[in-house]
Amino acid sequence: MNETDSPEPDGFVWNDRYLLGYAPMDATHREFVRLVDALLTVDDMELMDALQAFAVHAVTHFAEESCWMAENDFPAKDCHVAEHDKVLASVHEVREMLARGNVEVVRQLAVALLEWFPAHADYMDSALATWMTKRSHAGVPLVFKRQKPLE
Ligand SMILES: [Fe+2]
Ligand SMILES: [Fe+2]
Repeated sequence: MNETDSPEPDGFVWNDRYLLGYAPMDATHREFVRLVDALLTVDDMELMDALQAFAVHAVTHFAEESCWMAENDFPAKDCHVAEHDKVLASVHEVREMLARGNVEVVRQLAVALLEWFPAHADYMDSALATWMTKRSHAGVPLVFKRQKPLE
């Protein structure tokens, strides 16, 4: 690292600006932030468990969003899924490197995730949240009232 680089963040804290207004997604994103924070803050001895917990979360988080995209005919599905897949591939690679004793690469992954999440949430997840909210509100069942029978 040279002197112009900013120092490594010492944690990842939830900020309400990440809220997207779709409660189940917001809950998953709080969990994401908590688990990335753990990747930055736990002792080296606990990193394997923290990375395993993050990997399990990431698979579930991304599968949940894929499911919502499919169920709601979300148009921009492919590029959203491609971003998720890149994260999963990195996590897989980093797990193998950690198993060979490379601790620093896990911290680097955490920094990359911390930098990746706000833009992903702002553009991709936010578009999905808005799409689902609009569809659910537009999909309120219509109530047809029976007219009074003609006399
Ligand atoms: Fe997400
Ligand atoms: Fe996403």
